[in-house]
Amino acid sequence: MREKEIIVVGISAGATSKSRSELLLNSLLDEFSQVNCKIKKIAIRDLKISFCDGFRGCEKTGTCKWKDDMQLIERKIIEADVVVVSSPIYFTSIPANLKAIIDRCQVYWARKNILKNFNLEPKKGLFISIAGRNPDFNHAETIIRAFFSVFNIKLAGKYYLPNTDTINENIFLESIKEVKNLIKEVLK
Ligand SMILES: Cc1cc2nc3c(=O)[nH]c(=O)nc-3n(C[C@H](O)[C@H](O)[C@H](O)COP(=O)(O)O)c2cc1C
Repeated sequence: MREKEIIVVGISAGATSKSRSELLLNSLLDEFSQVNCKIKKIAIRDLKISFCDGFRGCEKTGTCKWKDDMQLIERKIIEADVVVVSSPIYFTSIPANLKAIIDRCQVYWARKNILKNFNLEPKKGLFISIAGRNPDFNHAETIIRAFFSVFNIKLAGKYYLPNTDTINENIFLESIKEVKNLIKEVLK
């Protein structure tokens, strides 16, 4: 038996609960729950997040002037052992609501790199992304890596599904199974 329960936080940027990126996330989270991990899921569409306006007060104070659902994201990521982000590709990148969350992480970046009072224990991260056509997923991955690095999260695995505009249901059902393999990247 494991000494400590593993906490897995799943962050979905899917537009609805039926979004295929979210169905892939659900499939993986389900796999984690089968091995007794504690699952916490966040759907970004349910959150109220203000945009970072580049005020940069955080670089001096270590706090953000906006008080909104970022506090929930912070709490969940800090307590997580594994963070899974799932996102569709929008205009070759991630959707604006996910990017808004990542931009708001400037306060943690400032605390880590300028104020030197934010240094978390290492965590593992996974990235799931899907796209209608066949874009370069590296654009989105670069942003996710930058987001993860602020919280000392190492990208341990990724699953990308292109061509959702044209693939048939069987291929999608196959990917629902395949994505579960990501669990092996973090629970070795
Ligand atoms: C605003 C918007 C922008 C999109 N931009 C791209 C794109 O640049 N490249 C691409 O391959 N698909 C693009 N798509 C298609 C989505 O990536 C695709 O439909 C995906 O399966 C949606 O995932 P979901 O079911 O999780 O919402 C875009 C869709 C939307 C709504």
